[in-house]
Amino acid sequence: MNENLQQHNDEPTDNHIWNEEVATTYVEKYGEHPINHLTAERAGLSPDDYLLDIGCGSGSALRAAATIVTHGELIGVDPTPAMVRISQTESADHPGFGRMRFLLGGAEALPLPDNRVTVCWAINSLHHWQDIAQGLAEARRVIVPNGRFIVVEEIFPEGHGFEADEVKMHLSSAGFEVEGASIQETDDAQFNVLVARNVVEHNVKED
Ligand SMILES: C[S@@+](CC[C@H](N)C(=O)[O-])C[C@H]1O[C@@H](n2cnc3c(N)ncnc32)[C@H](O)[C@@H]1O
Repeated sequence: MNENLQQHNDEPTDNHIWNEEVATTYVEKYGEHPINHLTAERAGLSPDDYLLDIGCGSGSALRAAATIVTHGELIGVDPTPAMVRISQTESADHPGFGRMRFLLGGAEALPLPDNRVTVCWAINSLHHWQDIAQGLAEARRVIVPNGRFIVVEEIFPEGHGFEADEVKMHLSSAGFEVEGASIQETDDAQFNVLVARNVVEHNVKED
């Protein structure tokens, strides 16, 4: 899917690549990409979930999720001002808009309190994070104990982005327990989907 934007994956993961122009072009081409809808459909969401989308882009995954998360809240976070503006504008007419918030921020400093999020996902965003360990530590901080984190990464034949094993390694190093790995297909692309749980360590008291 990203043929015009793939070149950016080779550049340092700093937000300068996600300027107004790149964000607008991305949203025009891929903002409603089917992987966003598929992720929402297959995430096992509940009406009461508190859902976080890290690197939400156009917000389309959250809009799809809002038809299932009918009582909880849906939060999109993105460090690119144009993405936050576009996601707000695109969502304004959605019946679930009152339960949605789009916040400016990167994975590395999530603007959310501890232990709040029941399901979190990052769709084609992880490989753009500037500090993956810090971002995953932040994800663990805001996700409730045993809450789920879903990472979706496009499979690029040229080797751009992350392989499934790399994502697993990052998740495990951060303390997530990886529960599932699958490949999802759309007409134009394939995606690794990793599902992880925010396990909590129980301290065993010694007598
Ligand atoms: C390829 S787009 C994917 C957008 C959306 N998730 C989708 O699939 O349509 C990558 C997104 O990651 C965001 N991003 C870049 N650096 C980030 C960071 N450090 N933390 C979170 N998101 C970031 C970009 O602003 C952009 O919206």
